[in-house]
Amino acid sequence: MTRSSEAPGFYRKSTPERRAFLREWADLSDDELRTLEFPPGVPPGTLERMIENVVGVLPVPVGVATNFRINARDYLIPMAIEEPSVVAAASNAAKVARAAGGFQAQSTPPVMIGQVQIVGVADPAAARLRILDRKPALLEAANAKDPVLVRFGGGAKELEVRIVPSMRGPMVVVHLLVDARDAGGMNAVNTMCEALAPELGRLAGGRVVLRIISNLAIHRLARAHATFRASLLATDKATGPEVVEAILDAYALAAADPFRCATHNKGIMNGVSSVVLATGNDFRAIESGAHTYAAWRASIEGGVVRPLTTYEKDSAGDLVGSIELPVAVGLIGGATAVHPTAKTLVKVLGVKSAPELGEVLAAVGLAQNFAALRALATEGIQRGHMELHARNLATSAGARPEEVDRVVERMVRDGTIRFDRAKEIVEELRRPPR
Ligand code: MEV
Repeated sequence: MTRSSEAPGFYRKSTPERRAFLREWADLSDDELRTLEFPPGVPPGTLERMIENVVGVLPVPVGVATNFRINARDYLIPMAIEEPSVVAAASNAAKVARAAGGFQAQSTPPVMIGQVQIVGVADPAAARLRILDRKPALLEAANAKDPVLVRFGGGAKELEVRIVPSMRGPMVVVHLLVDARDAGGMNAVNTMCEALAPELGRLAGGRVVLRIISNLAIHRLARAHATFRASLLATDKATGPEVVEAILDAYALAAADPFRCATHNKGIMNGVSSVVLATGNDFRAIESGAHTYAAWRASIEGGVVRPLTTYEKDSAGDLVGSIELPVAVGLIGGATAVHPTAKTLVKVLGVKSAPELGEVLAAVGLAQNFAALRALATEGIQRGHMELHARNLATSAGARPEEVDRVVERMVRDGTIRFDRAKEIVEELRRPPR
């Protein structure tokens, strides 16, 4: 019988019914089905209400990075990530930063941009001014959509009009700048844009197409800087000052070459995204915002894409790192307020406002990047990585928890860290002695 992915009524089924459907579909065993089960601490129904067609969960490990001191306050930082070494690296970097006082962080007000696109405008320059003439009334109309946000000091604060040349001719693009306070801002901004759209289209004499938030949150930035003392960077093969120079060389390549910059910024996002995910925030929004910000900055300052961090040597010869990135994260609304695990982890983190969370993200991003550059500029990352990789290989080759250490030890000793070797070792360990 041919199978159809149309799965009629799938969305109306209960979770157990959907699992039963999957059992048939993919010939799943009882053990395989059990891997989808909800964790015991999550109240029934919570996850099923978050998205559609729920069949289960994918538990991602949550680790806690230690040693962080940000603006003279200590934090334990929950990080949800599948990649080995990230949590350990962040903790180690924070320890080095801590010796010189930790991270200093700051943020701008949490202002998001909403875009309204108007096409088919005969006189875009004049249309821009017709819209700007009506700015106070337009802002008032936007704020009428969210009196609660306004009461908390947020709301629509500014309105700008751009004329964007495009392959379909010039377009009038209105930017509504909304202070989202402790929310991510997606709902407030989109609602306001949709509310203003008919009047904006009328004023411009054109047709409105898109009304949506921009993830390039250039007004909602977090920044952090820290000193990494040269004396703490020495290895058995290099002096501290040599390591500082090597890190500056590594950074210089990221600033000069997009192929390296992509990996440099990826390392930053290892830290940032894992905290974003642990706190139930939208990691795709942050990723997209960060990478586009790196390209946008380059479009202004020259180059193709910019590292989100900067490294310099101070007058004492120590390494000083800084970071700036958009941080559209919230503590109210969204999954952060609903997901029981995210709520627990926000409590562990102890942040009281969205800007504070943004500052933590900046510090973690800088720590993560420093750790990667330090490893790459000295012994390389493979040794530490391979040991953790070997653990994963051992487990997937069927090693029982009590066998994993021995399998890893043998692979590392032989210098052959591969799945086939892990399997061989597991078999050897289980072979009865002759
Ligand atoms: C791996 O996830 C991240 C790194 O490649 C980052 C970097 O190269 O800077 C280690």
